[in-house]
Amino acid sequence: MATAKVNGIKLYYEDTGSGDKTILLVHGFPLGRRLWEGQIEALRNGYRIVAPDLRGYGDSDVPDDIDSYSLEVYADDLAALLDELGIEKVVYVGLSMGGYLAFPFLRKYGDRVEALVLADARAEADPPEGVEKRSAQQEQIRTEGTGGLVEALPRALLSKTTWDQKPDVVERAKALMKHPDNGWLGSLQAMKTRPDSSDQLTSINVPTLIIVGEEDGITPPDAARKMHEHIGGSRLVVIPDAGHLSNLESPDAFNGALADFLGSL
Ligand code: MLT
Repeated sequence: MATAKVNGIKLYYEDTGSGDKTILLVHGFPLGRRLWEGQIEALRNGYRIVAPDLRGYGDSDVPDDIDSYSLEVYADDLAALLDELGIEKVVYVGLSMGGYLAFPFLRKYGDRVEALVLADARAEADPPEGVEKRSAQQEQIRTEGTGGLVEALPRALLSKTTWDQKPDVVERAKALMKHPDNGWLGSLQAMKTRPDSSDQLTSINVPTLIIVGEEDGITPPDAARKMHEHIGGSRLVVIPDAGHLSNLESPDAFNGALADFLGSL
């Protein structure tokens, strides 16, 4: 097991492959590092890849205090992990919550990011009704655990095409959601309290790739277009037939976009 002690907790991470560049893969909610298996397989021959379980996920520690979770704390954990591994700069690849968390990571540790990939993400904070929804989900988890959400969430996360035609991907998505209740509660807390990062977009000055599933209903193509318009020189790739988990739903298109971008650096 590869683990590092960072910020007083144990963080589990995959560290594989080799190459001149290191890719940091940051998963979304409520998924864990295994979300990235298809990308690790595709990229490990040319790049060093580090893929951690954020606190509360997979094999990492699960702090009890829900208020101790925030995107800033996740960002601090990632920077401390890079310190532990002696890695100075990374290509930061974040999907969804992993993308939201790119913003505090850039604010605090921007000199460590040589290029950026924001997949199925957005810069805005949650609207009030979004905050309420997350609070209701926290309540549901506290009273009955995560089982109901594991059954319900894939319908919202995946495209209709995936839902109708790729039952194996639906099952895989559910399997990736098996994490401790506090990991879920902590991420919901982190996401619902995150600030708006829209003003930060124009200051991003590293090569940036934005990817979005055409049928992403959580962070829709319009949110991706807005980031693309404001991040100078950024590329935008819209993946047909994919929803919010575009790397899982259409791995070939996702990996192709990623490989093209990495090859251009
Ligand atoms: C994620 O995939 O990280 C979440 O679905 C994002 C969100 O709920 O806003």
